Amino acid sequence: MEKLTSPSMFIGVQGKGIISFGSGQPDLPPPKEVFKILPAYRSFKYGLVQGQINLRKALSKDYKRSTENDFLVTNGASEALDLAFRVVGKPGDRVLIHSPYYYTYPHLVKSAYLEPVITETSEGKIVLEDFEKKVRDCTAVLINSPSNPTGRIQNVKTLKEIERITQDLNITLISDEVYKDLIYERENYLLSGPRVVTINSFSKTFSMCGFRVGYLYSSDSAFVERATALKTFTSMNTNILAQEMAYEATKVPKKRIMNELKIWKGRRDLIYNGLAELGLDLWKPEGAFYVLPKIKNPRKFVWRLYKKYKTITYLGEWFGAPSRVRFSYALDASKIEEGLKRVKKCLREI
Ligand SMILES: Cc1ncc(COP(=O)(O)O)c(C=O)c1O
Repeated sequence: MEKLTSPSMFIGVQGKGIISFGSGQPDLPPPKEVFKILPAYRSFKYGLVQGQINLRKALSKDYKRSTENDFLVTNGASEALDLAFRVVGKPGDRVLIHSPYYYTYPHLVKSAYLEPVITETSEGKIVLEDFEKKVRDCTAVLINSPSNPTGRIQNVKTLKEIERITQDLNITLISDEVYKDLIYERENYLLSGPRVVTINSFSKTFSMCGFRVGYLYSSDSAFVERATALKTFTSMNTNILAQEMAYEATKVPKKRIMNELKIWKGRRDLIYNGLAELGLDLWKPEGAFYVLPKIKNPRKFVWRLYKKYKTITYLGEWFGAPSRVRFSYALDASKIEEGLKRVKKCLREI
């Protein structure tokens, strides 16, 4: 059990009979259109560090009053987050994060020599009184709605309040919206304002995780310029072939996303009802593809479920939720059903 150190031990683990409720990568295929360019594709030289112009122009259509200059194309949302934290403040500055959180946030914040400050949520929802108290000492705030690992979305009223508070205090608002197209309850509310930095990705909406294309968008041109300068000194351009494939994805009718949403919702219902029937205490996911039930002795459960039942889950403690376990339901219904049977047996044993 001492080996349960971080999600890295499970990322990419596959094998006969293994069911993975582990990593958050969609099992649905990317749009077939993205592969069409491959046979004729021959470019191989360095690309613009800021990103291919056709892709940035296509992205700007989704953001009112934006231009291609407001975007930086990155190696997934992961690099966009890393760059954002490294340009947002000076060593020792604080960044407010709501917990439970995506496990990379505190590490990225610390590696940028900043200090993470945590605001606890209630059933995954931000508690504005605590948020307001803690945000005053911060340089930036990170909002992730829908959330990994809770699957919860923040109420539009709360998001508008956060926009107002951060704008009044002149604090940068970093909004990780990689699950913006995977919301079951309402349309996405895009946080906006002069100090908002939006992070997004092709990994989830278009099932293109391995191609590593994401982006950072802000109407704060100085912020985009600083992030671009930093990328010039680090990874340089994002893979140009992957960017062309991402560009093809932007042309796919939005209907495709709506059709997939029905599949995700069916899976959400299946796992939520299944875990609830096992008597587990959990919050109903409203977006993304995660659920975070409370489990007695989570370490023992995750280890036994993996070793004896070949079923991967992630420890809640990696996400700031030590009494819980995260399940990703990015897998087909038959696997979810089989996985639930294994979970039932394992719970009975421990
Ligand atoms: C909330 C959140 N942000 C960012 C990422 C990283 O996405 P990408 O594959 O675009 O780097 C993930 C991946 O799981 C995520 O859940």
